Amino acid sequence: MERAYEVSLAIILLMGVATLASTLKAAGPYGRYMTAGQRFTLPARPAWLLFESPQWFAFALTFWLIAPPESGPSSVMLFIFCFWQAHYTYRGLIYPLRMRDTHKRFPVIAVAAGFPFNLLNGFTNAYAVGHAAHLMGNGWFADPRFILGLAIAAFGWIVNFQADTILINLRADGFKGYRIPEGGAFRWVSAANYFGEIVFWSGFALMVWTLAGFVFVLFTLANLMPRAVAHHRWYRAEFPDYPKSRRAVIPGLL
Ligand SMILES: NC(=O)c1ccc[n+]([C@@H]2O[C@H](COP(=O)([O-])OP(=O)(O)OC[C@H]3O[C@@H](n4cnc5c(N)ncnc54)[C@H](OP(=O)(O)O)[C@@H]3O)[C@@H](O)[C@H]2O)c1
Repeated sequence: MERAYEVSLAIILLMGVATLASTLKAAGPYGRYMTAGQRFTLPARPAWLLFESPQWFAFALTFWLIAPPESGPSSVMLFIFCFWQAHYTYRGLIYPLRMRDTHKRFPVIAVAAGFPFNLLNGFTNAYAVGHAAHLMGNGWFADPRFILGLAIAAFGWIVNFQADTILINLRADGFKGYRIPEGGAFRWVSAANYFGEIVFWSGFALMVWTLAGFVFVLFTLANLMPRAVAHHRWYRAEFPDYPKSRRAVIPGLL
């Protein structure tokens, strides 16, 4: 199983490189970048549920059945298990249900790209958590990496949730187009949701201190940074009155 873990990490890194290369050329063809004639699409809500679902089941199956912690899960491992499942209950189930536009479509190609990544990522993270010696004792709860990582992850999650909410509310009146988002971290960046997401997973990696956690951060950066820059350019091109001081994704920097 250790070999499958190492190979999966290598594949995720390769996927990250491929994602970075393709997203630098053109942002993934969903949302505002989906063309009117896009073939093979699914309703957006079940599409989100479908491609995010492996993060639940791959993590849960690996953690409990495929490669469970040798001497049973410690309290720290159980905490991380619940933390992961709670986030993906939000991202895969609650978030799509919060979307206002129920007629929105999502390309099959994006589901087909996201599903295998999520499968490998759920597996590698569960395997790493279940086999990390430092997570076997409850002493990790008092480790500065755990405490700081948890605080950073909580901050990132709040920023991301608030940004998701601001974007969802832009269409509360049934409007189907795009408006300039205001408030929260949108004061500083165009992609406040991606900023929160990056901070969240960076905090998670610090909190669990596993190679799989850090590889996931690299993938998230490769996936979201170029898309955030594309969003930023799109806003500037679309709205002549777009706030000039706003950056793309990292406040004050990028
Ligand atoms: N961990 C990861 O690697 C990862 C990867 C992808 C996404 N995510 C997370 O999943 C969430 C959604 O991601 P996404 O890529 O779909 O984000 P997005 O492109 O910012 O879109 C988010 C939602 O808000 C709507 N929206 C965006 N800008 C708007 C505006 N100016 N006016 C009105 N509505 C607007 C979008 O509608 P349209 O669909 O019509 O554009 C979509 O429903 C984010 O929180 C993100 O962090 C995480």
